[in-house]
Amino acid sequence: MEKNEIIKKAADYAQRLLSSETSGHDWWHTYRVWKMSLHIARKERADLFVVQLAALLHDVDDYKLKFSKAGIKKKTVKQILSKIGTDDITAKKILHIIQNMSFNKSFDGKKVNTLEGKIAQDADRLDALGAVGIARTFAFGGSHGRKIYDPKIKLAKFKSSKECRHSESPSINHFYEKLLLIGNMLNTKTARQIAKERHKYLEQYLERFFAEWEGKR
Ligand code: ADP
Ligand code: NI
Repeated sequence: MEKNEIIKKAADYAQRLLSSETSGHDWWHTYRVWKMSLHIARKERADLFVVQLAALLHDVDDYKLKFSKAGIKKKTVKQILSKIGTDDITAKKILHIIQNMSFNKSFDGKKVNTLEGKIAQDADRLDALGAVGIARTFAFGGSHGRKIYDPKIKLAKFKSSKECRHSESPSINHFYEKLLLIGNMLNTKTARQIAKERHKYLEQYLERFFAEWEGKR
């Protein structure tokens, strides 16, 4: 099958599955990761086919997702790849990327070891920064019953993905526990460049948040 046709099928599946997701991992998150991956991959001269498929399918089988309204049966990434006609060698590469790229897994020492994986991971992480990242953090927090902020709850330092998953931290704490660390965790030069402005925006946002909290602005 044509590569473009496979990409289109992956995008269609992700769109149908994620369209009613509301915790910050909706289709438009996948769409942004897809476009950003493509942008980075062109600059870094990576395999555009592998990068795009990894980006498009990176969240379809994630434990965090709730798709109560989508009404379509969830499949494993392996099943989808085979269904849309991906050859075995490419499928293997993509599975490795998706199984290792999640932020939480980096606490367990998991790493992606291909350029394509590094790019998909960078694009996913960039979507947690900047204006969009702020929106997603509060969307995720709200949908998981987290507080916006509570000065009595101290910052946590996670040692494993399990600890991180089960954290009840308020969303503001999440900025310090994860988001502000992302800038130093990116793999590619292109992503680090893009992250600079987005990181600064988070810092400015927090400064203003605390000023408003105390009625100072
Ligand atoms: P990944 O799926 O890449 O491992 P995460 O689940 O950590 O990434 O993050 C995806 C999005 O969810 C990010 O925008 C992040 O800010 C948000 N998020 C994850 N955990 C929390 C949390 N405890 N509180 C608020 N937002 C969170
Ligand atoms: Ni994602």
